[in-house]
Amino acid sequence: MNLTIIGTGYVGLISGACFAEFGYQTVCVDKDQNRIDELNQSKCPFYEPGIEDLLNKHLNKTKLLSFSNSLAESVKDADIIFITVGTPSKRLEGDADLSFVWDVARQISQNIKKYCLIVTKSTVPVGTTKQVKQIILENIHEENFDVVSNPEFLREGSAIDDFMRPDRVVIGCENQKSESLIKELYRPLNLNETPIVSTSIETSEIIKYASNSFLATKISFINQVADLSEKVGANIQDVAKGMGIDKRIGSKFLHAGPGYGGSCFPKDVKAFINTAKKHNVDFSILNAVDSFNDRRVSEITNKIISKSNLNKGDTATILGLSFKPNTDDVRDSTSIKIAKILNTKGINIKCYDPEAMPNAKKENAFLTLCDDSYAACNNSKAIIIGTEWNEFRALDLKKIINNKNKLCIFDLRNIYNPKELQELGFNYFGTGT
Ligand SMILES: NC(=O)c1ccc[n+]([C@@H]2O[C@H](COP(=O)([O-])OP(=O)(O)OC[C@H]3O[C@@H](n4cnc5c(N)ncnc54)[C@H](O)[C@@H]3O)[C@@H](O)[C@H]2O)c1
Repeated sequence: MNLTIIGTGYVGLISGACFAEFGYQTVCVDKDQNRIDELNQSKCPFYEPGIEDLLNKHLNKTKLLSFSNSLAESVKDADIIFITVGTPSKRLEGDADLSFVWDVARQISQNIKKYCLIVTKSTVPVGTTKQVKQIILENIHEENFDVVSNPEFLREGSAIDDFMRPDRVVIGCENQKSESLIKELYRPLNLNETPIVSTSIETSEIIKYASNSFLATKISFINQVADLSEKVGANIQDVAKGMGIDKRIGSKFLHAGPGYGGSCFPKDVKAFINTAKKHNVDFSILNAVDSFNDRRVSEITNKIISKSNLNKGDTATILGLSFKPNTDDVRDSTSIKIAKILNTKGINIKCYDPEAMPNAKKENAFLTLCDDSYAACNNSKAIIIGTEWNEFRALDLKKIINNKNKLCIFDLRNIYNPKELQELGFNYFGTGT
């Protein structure tokens, strides 16, 4: 089977490399020539554990993987074409910006030469895959292609494992032929007995948004309970543990923190709300999740400023800039949002992140990047642990406190034991503890 993947971001590149690992001849296309040049040298344009080994293996040894900037050339012989371009939020409105998807659909329709399956893997609002079909129909007879919805659930930081061992694969199809073909594609996953959820196209599109929105809801919920716990002397980690042991609830996504960020949850929640609005459906639960999360960063930053008495000209440290550990993705990162607010108040920001500093600096020139956590904490009035990278879990805190009694530390991800830090002389503030 020949596969073509259009868009070599996190989803496209990981999918392409993993499909090559399954044994499929795969070409990955991107309009970004620099990206293609880098990939052709087995260099991944972003940090993702394990990806460069896969690239090297399938680009240079098995030759199952190739990269191209020519969509026209790359779709001609494809049996299955995946659309994996970005679907960011439109400014202000919160709707998904589908312009990249429409652009790719138009180009596919002008260039396919034989029957193929066109699969939307990007996260797209309900109705999009059928609209892609309408665009293709402008040039291609309906017998010569089918469309399928196949949303992706991988997580940055563990993307390869998530792709190779997913909890489920969701496919939305219109007919037997396309369903058989896409099931055949995922046959290698039968070995792990991966459930394949086969539905209509609309259901498949909704499953993706409902899943992300539900996880975001869990996060906003536990964050509100954290706020209450903080006020009444309860401990949110114990609360979450006591809740999460209940199998009906589950312990995942019950970690209190600065709110959800990243390239998916914020935009997907907003897009889902907008879809409901268009159909006049009451989505008040998700509205509350979204607006609480939007407020959370400024509330946490106010707490940081007042507890540590930060004033213009003071220095604060941020440890962790990526939106979560094991990625260099800073899209909608809560650490960067906190840094921006502090910067507008004239506070200097020293920071350190194992991987995300170059990306963070691109749009935030005000950040002072440091070589390690200790350099970042030097001469600082407040230390903010924004991302729970493993290397922040075992810092030599004696080196940081350095006789400065009552240095404030804001452990936004609750990775330290409050008592131990207080005994060392820190003024410790967790989230919901
Ligand atoms: N990042 C994740 O963890 C994740 C997980 C699940 C689903 N998704 C969804 O997958 C989709 C892609 O996300 P991403 O994070 O991989 O995006 P990304 O922004 O990292 O990458 C998108 C890529 O598409 C390329 N592109 C845009 N238009 C193109 C065109 N006309 N031709 C060729 N290439 C083109 C861009 O140059 C870019 O390299 C989104 O809808 C997202 O919501 C993302």
